[in-house]
Amino acid sequence: MTTSSAPGKVYLFGEHAVVYGEPAVPCAVDRRARVTVEQRDDSRIRVEADDLSLDGFTVTYGENPDDADVNVPGDLVAAATGYVDGAVAQARDAAGVPDAGFSVTIESAIPLGAGLGSSAAVAVAGIDAATRALGVELSCGELADRAYRVEHDVQEGQASRADTFCSTMGGAVRVEGDACERLPEPPDLPFVIGYDGGTGDTGELVAGVRALRERYGFAADTVESIGDLVREGERALREGDVARLGELMDYNHGLLSALGVSARSLDAMVWAARDAGATGVKLTGAGGGGCVVALDETDATETALEYTPGCESAFRAELDAEGVRRE
Ligand code: PMV
Repeated sequence: MTTSSAPGKVYLFGEHAVVYGEPAVPCAVDRRARVTVEQRDDSRIRVEADDLSLDGFTVTYGENPDDADVNVPGDLVAAATGYVDGAVAQARDAAGVPDAGFSVTIESAIPLGAGLGSSAAVAVAGIDAATRALGVELSCGELADRAYRVEHDVQEGQASRADTFCSTMGGAVRVEGDACERLPEPPDLPFVIGYDGGTGDTGELVAGVRALRERYGFAADTVESIGDLVREGERALREGDVARLGELMDYNHGLLSALGVSARSLDAMVWAARDAGATGVKLTGAGGGGCVVALDETDATETALEYTPGCESAFRAELDAEGVRRE
């Protein structure tokens, strides 16, 4: 048995715009997906996930998805199998063992599809565990690249390298097109996360922004403005200016709202955090539902979120300097 884990992330700045070559700064947080694999003596894949933020499920499948033996509805099967299939395909390719079969167990403390990078963490930890089970150790660079290819395929080309690079490397990172780098240790960032219990469809939301950007010059300008904001945010991060970071997060949320990717539940949490005196707050990830991330060193934002209708849970998160971990 081989186990690897990888962290989820929040976007300090730059989601969506990063898809069009603007920079983004995601930060890994201390919520992890753990993937355990055991090689099988056939070429089938069995996935078990009992600790996700949805009812547990088990699915066993081989070459033909129609012969899948499942205990849950089809859309969850697609969610489960897409990233795991992709991770196994990458591991088979990296190790040169095209017909390796695996039993895969996923335990994750990252809400699914909620903007905290659950799929990237599963892809990173899954590829790492499966390649090691086949006797191959990938460098972090190759692991991040292969995990990106999984996300890119599953999301039908609508993915940046941000989530997968951040989950592999840990810490705060900067991604601009294919250029990915880890940033120096940032100041203490008092993250508070609000979760509405829902999800957004990343592919659909990215396609919506793409259509808006093609239709209106001012939407394209909005995407570019997010890029300018990220560059300003990087300066604030280097200078340890948390107040300015917060102001820029507020602005970033406004621009994401203008691009149509916020939601009533996300805006309700954003306003609750603002009213509670958060230093800054924005949605994180694709939007449409899921999570907001705030900065607040006091308890006020977390408490306010707990009492906000539509907020299912509120919790603190720490920056996680460690990326993929071999358990
Ligand atoms: O919601 P998440 O964690 O899948 O993040 C999506 C971020 C986007 O910028 C919208 C897409 C991407 O791949 O960068």
